[in-house]
Amino acid sequence: MHPFVLVHILAASTCCQAFAFPDVSSLNIFDRSIFSSREAQSGVDGAGKGGTKNGQKQAQGSGCPAVWFDISKDLTSRFLKKGVCTDDARAAIRSSFHDCFDGACDGSLVLGDECFRSSNNGLLDWSMKLRAIKEQYNVGMADLIQFAGAHATVTCPKGPVVPVFVGRKDSYTPSKEGWLPPANATGDALLKAFQSKGFTATDLAALIGAHTTAKQNFVNAQFAGYGQDSTPGIWDVNYYKETIDGAAPFSFPADKNLVKHPIVGPRFKEFVGKQQRWNTAYVAGFRKMSMLGVENIDELVDCTSALPRGTRKRDIKAAPIGAR
Ligand code: HEM
Ligand SMILES: *[C@@H]1O[C@H](CO)[C@@H](O)[C@H](O)[C@H]1NC(C)=O
Repeated sequence: MHPFVLVHILAASTCCQAFAFPDVSSLNIFDRSIFSSREAQSGVDGAGKGGTKNGQKQAQGSGCPAVWFDISKDLTSRFLKKGVCTDDARAAIRSSFHDCFDGACDGSLVLGDECFRSSNNGLLDWSMKLRAIKEQYNVGMADLIQFAGAHATVTCPKGPVVPVFVGRKDSYTPSKEGWLPPANATGDALLKAFQSKGFTATDLAALIGAHTTAKQNFVNAQFAGYGQDSTPGIWDVNYYKETIDGAAPFSFPADKNLVKHPIVGPRFKEFVGKQQRWNTAYVAGFRKMSMLGVENIDELVDCTSALPRGTRKRDIKAAPIGAR
């Protein structure tokens, strides 16, 4: 562990940075769930303080504060190793979904200690790193989570540029539980949950494609580290074909349920072999995701220019053959 992180953990004021390696599997938290009960919950938290600070130096020719360009360099070193995206990159992508979908993209994943919930199993280590990066660069947590998710997406080879904005309000209030989909969710439950937040069946089929970079650890401990496609270091469409064919190292029941679903299934199948089509649909879906519950959208500043431009073919060539 980097000494800075350790110092930070010792000075911790919230749980998500307070313990380095808690045994998350022993946490017995009951997640009230729309996926197991009929009682849907709306969960928009009161906005706290945070966001991008006024008076920060702006990069020339762009409204984006210069600090995001520094953060961008820092993240590149964390997200790309040997031409493929790293465990931090996977966690960053998943975190950008998990902070938003349970209510608002408000930083409460980390600031509200949601990262200790079983629904966020596997995100604790990255949540602690986010906390340290936030302190180091003095930016808002909600923005940092979204910026890191977008950065990781384009840093994974073949990943698209997801437009990214900053200026969200942070919240220290944990979001309502039950919104994050379990590994065994039915296709109907998933579609219902996503539609209730304004997503289409195509959005859902495209967004779950982020599992192209995923490796499960908690759904089945016997197969810890198994990817949801054979190339988890690459943002490719192998995930779609392998999920349909039952050829992925490890597929979640939820993902297979979507394949079988009468409405989502056909959308899911449309992405097989269609990298560009998927990337475009993903960007549209994720743009919506990153604005969930954000009440000051008009005040946000475009920081897409601070993202890297995408990982080049020559980087991909450095990757182990099996990961390409
Ligand atoms: C729609 C239904 C979804 C379900 C049921 C689902 C479920 C899961 C589960 C069970 C894991 C494995 C956690 C573990 O055991 O380590 C996982 C990992 C992951 N999910 Fe999802 N997910 C969904 C949607 C999404 C979306 C929309 C995104 C991003 C846009 C996403 C990104 C990821 C990533 C990147 C990982 C890998 C994390 C890592 O390897 O550290 N998922 N997901
Ligand atoms: C999913 O698993 C949980 C916990 O094991 C169970 O309570 C729930 O009924 C399952 N849901 C479905 C749709 O199978």
